Amino acid sequence: MQREQVVVRSDDTRRAELEAAGWVVSSRSWAAQLTASRIDVDALSTMVQRGRRHGDIREIGDADLTSVLALDSATLADYPGGVANRHSALTMSTARVTGARRGFGVFDDEGRVVAVTFVDIDGRRAETDFTVVAAGSRGLGIGSAVKAASVLALLRDGIEIFRTGGAAENVAILASNMSLGYVVDEEWVTLSPPLQVAETGRARR
Ligand SMILES: CC(C)(COP(=O)(O)OP(=O)(O)OC[C@H]1O[C@@H](n2cnc3c(N)ncnc32)[C@H](O)[C@@H]1OP(=O)(O)O)[C@@H](O)C(=O)NCCC(=O)NCCS
Repeated sequence: MQREQVVVRSDDTRRAELEAAGWVVSSRSWAAQLTASRIDVDALSTMVQRGRRHGDIREIGDADLTSVLALDSATLADYPGGVANRHSALTMSTARVTGARRGFGVFDDEGRVVAVTFVDIDGRRAETDFTVVAAGSRGLGIGSAVKAASVLALLRDGIEIFRTGGAAENVAILASNMSLGYVVDEEWVTLSPPLQVAETGRARR
């Protein structure tokens, strides 16, 4: 992580101060919410049905850990965005599902996981940690299907607030969440200091 970068809400007063001092926006991200009363159960069920053409969709259990870790390891470099959207490699501990951390997957005919979504639960609130689809299976509706399956299962279990987020440049996950009914309600910017911009040339507006 580049220590000097600062992540703030786009309307945070510190942003104007930092930009006046020469800091520049090097990446953007968003957060979105879906509330239980707004969920279109039929639409999400249709997404799950479409996803089932590509595999079995179900909640992850301890027997799936090795497969989940293999998918995670193979896709670590695939997450767009900067520090605000960093995905840390799963460990045996963070891949294990509990009452407070649940995972849902799409499994091929050999029982290998080709997509997962992990969700952290706090009371009646669920926050997506990450969602990933194996590189060779993207663009087929599988990512949306596994997220839809997770929302429907958690809805049945009494979750009322669903939160998620991502990098502005990650067009697929934004489109997927819009299809699920999430509404963007926060925008975030990552600011890089002038010296870092000059040194790396990586920052952009
Ligand atoms: C993001 C990701 C999970 C999406 O899964 P997916 O199975 O490829 O997505 P889907 O096929 O369900 O498509 C979802 C939507 O994104 C759109 N989409 C898919 N791939 C796209 C692409 N490369 N560019 C633009 N839009 C794309 C689809 O058209 C669809 O839009 P719609 O709902 O309006 O029809 C997958 O691309 C991935 O694993 N990326 C790497 C990890 C990552 O970035 N995860 C998200 C951050 S946690």
